[in-house]
Amino acid sequence: MLPVGVFGVTLLAFSIRAVSGVDNLHKVSLTARKVPKGHVAALRRRSSSSINIALDDYYNGTDLQWYGNISVGTPPQEISVVFDTGSETLEFASTQCGDPCANQPKFDTSQSSTYVNHHQTTSISFETGIGVDPITSDSEFVLTLQEGEDTVTVGGIAVPNVDLYTIIDQTAAFAIDPFSGIQGMSSQAAGFFAGLIDQGYPSLFGMYLTPKSVGNAELTIGGIDDSKYSGDLTYSPLPGDSEGSWQLNSPTIYVNGETTGTLDQQRTIIFDSGTPNVYFDTDTTEAIYSIISSDIQPYSSEQGAYGIACSKIDQLPAQLDITFTTESGEPFNLTIPSSEFNVGPFKDDPSTCQTMINALDGLELVGGSLLKHYYSVWDIGNQRMGFASTGELCAT
Ligand SMILES: *[C@@H]1O[C@H](CO)[C@@H](O)[C@H](O)[C@H]1NC(C)=O
Ligand SMILES: *[C@@H]1O[C@H](CO)[C@@H](O)[C@H](O)[C@H]1NC(C)=O
Ligand SMILES: *[C@@H]1O[C@H](CO)[C@@H](O)[C@H](O)[C@H]1NC(C)=O
Repeated sequence: MLPVGVFGVTLLAFSIRAVSGVDNLHKVSLTARKVPKGHVAALRRRSSSSINIALDDYYNGTDLQWYGNISVGTPPQEISVVFDTGSETLEFASTQCGDPCANQPKFDTSQSSTYVNHHQTTSISFETGIGVDPITSDSEFVLTLQEGEDTVTVGGIAVPNVDLYTIIDQTAAFAIDPFSGIQGMSSQAAGFFAGLIDQGYPSLFGMYLTPKSVGNAELTIGGIDDSKYSGDLTYSPLPGDSEGSWQLNSPTIYVNGETTGTLDQQRTIIFDSGTPNVYFDTDTTEAIYSIISSDIQPYSSEQGAYGIACSKIDQLPAQLDITFTTESGEPFNLTIPSSEFNVGPFKDDPSTCQTMINALDGLELVGGSLLKHYYSVWDIGNQRMGFASTGELCAT
């Protein structure tokens, strides 16, 4: 999920609301604990000291978000959060949020002896949200937050005094979430992650975000779970100006093996584990769709969404090969197969199915539909991302 105005990402389509407080979180320089390049084997040997967190897949017609349990407070209260590489803060529902948070497990600040209230409220507005529909207004997904701090415990490891936000109100679009909140996991560790690194954990995490049909999704903090992939990891460096965002430069995109002038251009693509589908500029989106089928059209009642008759969609070849560059300068592709192309029927017209890419000028972003097909390593210390095949383990 991508909050408005965080990471210096500027979207022309929105008026950007200042989000006070959220940019001021404690950040730690992580160079001291980085894993030396080429020492993945050593890291694997140490992997018994890493923290594995089982993840549930929020599936509603298509895979949407992966979330797991953490504990907050003293004594610990269990809450569930989406592990979201598109944002950087921790926020979750509080018992102060009544009806708007009725479906979610909530945290009661009055029952925690270690909770500190900072007596300041703020809000976050998101521009990619819970489902696959584009957000067309910056008042659609808004959380109203109380700033504070408390102990956060994950896999038995407690980190005291973590800056966090409790949700005291939220817009109706959040009401169907089966989880309490969001744990941001930006490329500059903050909050809980910064605390773990202070305790000696390597500054990286691995994600195994499987489709619902495969299950056993997992987040590994401070290590890489090599039982979850085959072959080698391929690493690509983050650009120098990533500002906390997980993003990689891409020289070209292929659609069913073809490229065009619009697609064969250098671009920077954000990797967001909290967004289910794909966002590109309108020009890029239309260049991709025009190769797949002229029957794919903008969906008039949802700005940025595209669709085609459900009777046609599953026959369309629609493979995206997005090229990136390894640390040694070689090209490699990350592939989104045709099976991801159909994200389901529109609510107000069930005979039209929504296609995977939403258009939003100023945003180029891939999420679950790509990450599902790889084991991914998010290496904060070395400012790089690694990918390996889950092919044999997860053949769907
Ligand atoms: C999270 O905790 C709840 C309640 O204890 C449990 O039902 C659920 O399976 C847990 N989720 C995961 C992914 O472990
Ligand atoms: C699935 O999505 C629909 C809207 O698309 C919503 O009404 C329904 O509550 C969702 N179901 C779950 C289990 O979240
Ligand atoms: C990436 O995919 C395209 C299209 O399928 C292919 O032509 C190209 O050779 C691939 N590049 C690499 C490095 O595998």
